Amino acid sequence: MCSLSSRLVSIVLFTAATVFGDDAAFDPLQYVDQLIGSSNGGNVFPGATLPYGMAKAVADTNSSSNQGGFTLDGSPVSGFSVLHDSGTGGSPSLGNFPLFPYASCPGDDIDRCDFPKKTRVNYGSFDNNSVTARPGFFGITLDSGIEAEMTASQHTALFRFTFPKASDGNVSHPLLLQDLSDLSDSRQDNGTVSVDAETGRITGSARFVSSFSQGQYVPYFCTDFSGPAILDNGIFSNSRASADVKSLTISRSINGYPLPGGAFVRFESADTPVLARVGISFISSDQACSNAEAEIPDYNFNEVEQAASDAWKEKISPIVINTGAGVDPTLVTNFYSGIYRTMVNPQNYTGENPLWNTGEPYFDSFYCLWDSFRSQIPFLTILDPDSVSQMIRSMIETYRHEGWLPDCRMTFSKGYTQGGSNADVILSDGFQKGLVDGIDWDTGYQAVVKDAEVEPFDWSSEGRGGLDSWKALGYIPVQDFDYKGFGTMTRSISRTLEYSYNDFTISQMANQLNKTADMEKYLETSENWKNLYKPDQTSSLDTGVDTGYVGFFQPRFVNQTWDFQDPLWCSNIDNSGTSCSLQNTAHETFESSIWEYGFFVPHNQGDLISLYGGPAQFTRRLDYLHDTNITYIGNEPAFLTVFQYHYAGRPALSALRSHFYIPRYFSPTPDGLPGNDDSGAMGSFVAFSMMGLFPNPGQDVYLITPPYFESVNITSPVTGKTATVRNVNYDPTYQAIYIQSATLDGEPYTKNWIDHSFFTEGKELVLTLGRNESIWGTAVKDLPPSLGDYVGFNGTFSPKRSSGAGVRYPLEFATAGLSL
Ligand SMILES: *[C@@H]1O[C@H](CO)[C@@H](O)[C@H](O)[C@H]1NC(C)=O
Ligand SMILES: *[C@@H]1O[C@H](CO)[C@@H](O)[C@H](O)[C@H]1NC(C)=O
Ligand SMILES: *[C@@H]1O[C@H](CO)[C@@H](O)[C@H](O)[C@H]1NC(C)=O
Ligand SMILES: *[C@@H]1O[C@H](CO)[C@@H](O)[C@H](O)[C@H]1NC(C)=O
Ligand SMILES: *[C@@H]1O[C@H](CO)[C@@H](O)[C@H](O)[C@H]1NC(C)=O
Ligand SMILES: *[C@@H]1O[C@H](CO)[C@@H](O)[C@H](O)[C@H]1NC(C)=O
Ligand SMILES: *[C@@H]1O[C@H](CO)[C@@H](O)[C@H](O)[C@H]1NC(C)=O
Ligand SMILES: *[C@@H]1O[C@H](CO)[C@@H](O)[C@H](O)[C@H]1NC(C)=O
Ligand SMILES: *[C@@H]1O[C@H](CO)[C@@H](O)[C@H](O)[C@H]1NC(C)=O
Ligand SMILES: *[C@@H]1O[C@H](CO)[C@@H](O)[C@H](O)[C@H]1NC(C)=O
Ligand SMILES: *[C@@H]1O[C@H](CO)[C@@H](O)[C@H](O)[C@H]1NC(C)=O
Repeated sequence: MCSLSSRLVSIVLFTAATVFGDDAAFDPLQYVDQLIGSSNGGNVFPGATLPYGMAKAVADTNSSSNQGGFTLDGSPVSGFSVLHDSGTGGSPSLGNFPLFPYASCPGDDIDRCDFPKKTRVNYGSFDNNSVTARPGFFGITLDSGIEAEMTASQHTALFRFTFPKASDGNVSHPLLLQDLSDLSDSRQDNGTVSVDAETGRITGSARFVSSFSQGQYVPYFCTDFSGPAILDNGIFSNSRASADVKSLTISRSINGYPLPGGAFVRFESADTPVLARVGISFISSDQACSNAEAEIPDYNFNEVEQAASDAWKEKISPIVINTGAGVDPTLVTNFYSGIYRTMVNPQNYTGENPLWNTGEPYFDSFYCLWDSFRSQIPFLTILDPDSVSQMIRSMIETYRHEGWLPDCRMTFSKGYTQGGSNADVILSDGFQKGLVDGIDWDTGYQAVVKDAEVEPFDWSSEGRGGLDSWKALGYIPVQDFDYKGFGTMTRSISRTLEYSYNDFTISQMANQLNKTADMEKYLETSENWKNLYKPDQTSSLDTGVDTGYVGFFQPRFVNQTWDFQDPLWCSNIDNSGTSCSLQNTAHETFESSIWEYGFFVPHNQGDLISLYGGPAQFTRRLDYLHDTNITYIGNEPAFLTVFQYHYAGRPALSALRSHFYIPRYFSPTPDGLPGNDDSGAMGSFVAFSMMGLFPNPGQDVYLITPPYFESVNITSPVTGKTATVRNVNYDPTYQAIYIQSATLDGEPYTKNWIDHSFFTEGKELVLTLGRNESIWGTAVKDLPPSLGDYVGFNGTFSPKRSSGAGVRYPLEFATAGLSL
């Protein structure tokens, strides 16, 4: 997903910030910069968390781009909260129950402290240079002189507030308030809060609206303090507070903005820091308290931070690169920071699910699978397969309880579906790559088949729409007649393309499960994309100049005649201001153009290449897509297009294109991301691209390009074996980025792709590089699998099919576009 505001691309020049030697004891965390993407619409969560942690502590700013809580764009801090998502678009998610500190209230009068969020931001300004972030830690010093540091365990955050001492001999009575707000001010009806007079423990809960769905959720919190003695405590309502009242139930009120309300605690002195431990739960305040007591019993800040840092180190350490050989250190930071971001979301809410409690893992904040199926989850399948197994188990358990696999899921509710039922791709990818670990694949298969066969009443948030037409016509028609299920009647082209690919991935599962009839059936429907290909369609620029390309997908009516959508609408160079997301005025492609979706046939590049006039013409079209800025690397549909040259027998051009985008569009600076990070989707794109193995998700295929480093070692956490990719003639200036020859475990290797056993069996791929494109990986026999044949290539034609089934098209298919 991308928000339109993030379509601005900034290109940042960078300088080497760190110098390091070859033999430094390897600690990948030193290369993690969480602040990448904290401005310019990256929307990342840059704070303190465990991998997949539920507690995510950071300073929240008053920015209009505060989806991840914190931003480095000059906006002041409005509070410090514990629940967050990372890199999302849509309305800001979570950010509930923020704390806010004052060193003292003027005249020692609590009513003279500013309680409401809108006015306390006036005390939240800070200097960018005061911000420190490292895995498991976030720190900031406000201009008021208050230093706030935070770390986190799984369901608990620990804050350490250090207050300036009053210089003129006045007493300081530091005050911490905690309110019932969230980032997007979505609180509904009554929120409650109470404070224990003796201990100062604050507990409470409130109902909020999920950010990209119609759902609501109720988080609970439990905050305890350690440090100076407590002076007094109480509650506040609006701008007034009292130590005489210890609990509050507050209505949302009618003014479109939830009334400010919360509790406060004041301390006797500012001589020692105040430690605030905030436990969180989605079950009860009691559970929030017991989570906190169990996880952080003795307020030992350093110990909690060390544990978080160790957890990150353990997750990231299986990937070791050669940081020497002249590589620009900022690229190392880019790489490991990208890897880090792949494990911030989704979040592990196991044990915290109020809807069912079956002992199965429960993951939330899949935000959204449309973003993460392409490379984030596949990346984790290499680096952290046990966690992906748990995520898949969670998806299957969600299917058991809610009837459907999740698509976009946050805070226990079904988010909005953007295209196909892309959990199908994730399940199939994991299945083909051998994930087992407690996964009930029979039920998993049942779930993906249901996506393909049963239309839900509300397909805005689950399954697929238009299935009657899909089956009768072989495509989703524009202005479909659908009286069985309901959703936004747009995106007929991108839905047709995604449903086709979803079906292909189901066929691959069926194949491995020996369900031959199903395999044939879904292979057949995986060809439905062809039914929207209009061979004589042309495309012109705004200026009226013809792009010179003929043959594009087009919308088609129920009566099988064509509608028209300009192939450049919703592209990066479309300045018409047209709607391209889930608006009901939007078009037949979601968040991208027909031009770009024109390449989304991940399973049948052979036939697509033929339709586009053969490999040379396909390559030219791909170049045109990138060189004229039609595509936008800040949104996920662009990812695979960077590497699709492989299918045209030009793996060298994929390498070149990868370097075209990295680091130009991805630099290790706060404004260095070209769009929303989308829960680590951008991070995984960077990591995979720099590692030199890009997945075609849903297939057991990684496309080979030279790593950006001299060598990359990846140790499988499952088998303990280490896979290596090593460049011979490595050139840190990236002139020599073309593979001349390769060996796999010492034997010559000419295929331009490799499968997952490379990682699990710990193979060694050695790539010899040169400055010119070579014939390596260009022969038809060396191209990645395709359902349709590769035709029109130079050299020997050796048609290959990923399965033996003959494919008949459900509709008569015009072959006029084939110019072979
Ligand atoms: C906070 O954000 C609002 C809305 O963008 C803006 O009107 C207000 O001026 C901001 N306050 C501060 C102190 O920056
Ligand atoms: C730092 O702060 C200024 C103003 O306070 C802001 O405009 C700027 O964008 C910030 N971020 C960075 C990364 O410099
Ligand atoms: C110190 O106390 C005096 C008297 O209440 C007040 O006028 C002054 O502003 C205080 N100084 C600070 C820094 O709060
Ligand atoms: C809110 O609290 C008030 C006072 O306790 C109560 O009368 C009312 O029913 C509550 N409303 C909801 C929606 O819970
Ligand atoms: C990768 O592993 C190989 C074999 O275990 C080892 O010789 C090499 O030094 C490792 N490379 C790095 C960068 O650690
Ligand atoms: C998720 O949380 C559960 C319960 O705390 C834990 O058993 C499991 O290992 C966690 N999974 C991951 C991938 O962190
Ligand atoms: C599918 O059939 C093959 C060949 O008969 C067999 O080896 C394999 O175990 C079967 N797989 C399943 C899931 O039944
Ligand atoms: C097909 O349907 C479209 C849209 O309703 C309509 O404009 C067109 O005239 C129809 N064509 C035929 C041949 O029925
Ligand atoms: C594409 O966009 C980049 C960055 O915005 C710009 O530098 C370049 O000139 C554009 N290219 C074309 C062909 O418009
Ligand atoms: C590589 O190509 C350049 C021109 O692009 C040519 O001058 C050079 O001789 C080539 N090098 C090799 C080794 O073929
Ligand atoms: C392959 O064929 C294309 C188109 O016919 C031609 O331009 C190209 O030079 C040929 N390449 C080789 C290596 O023969």
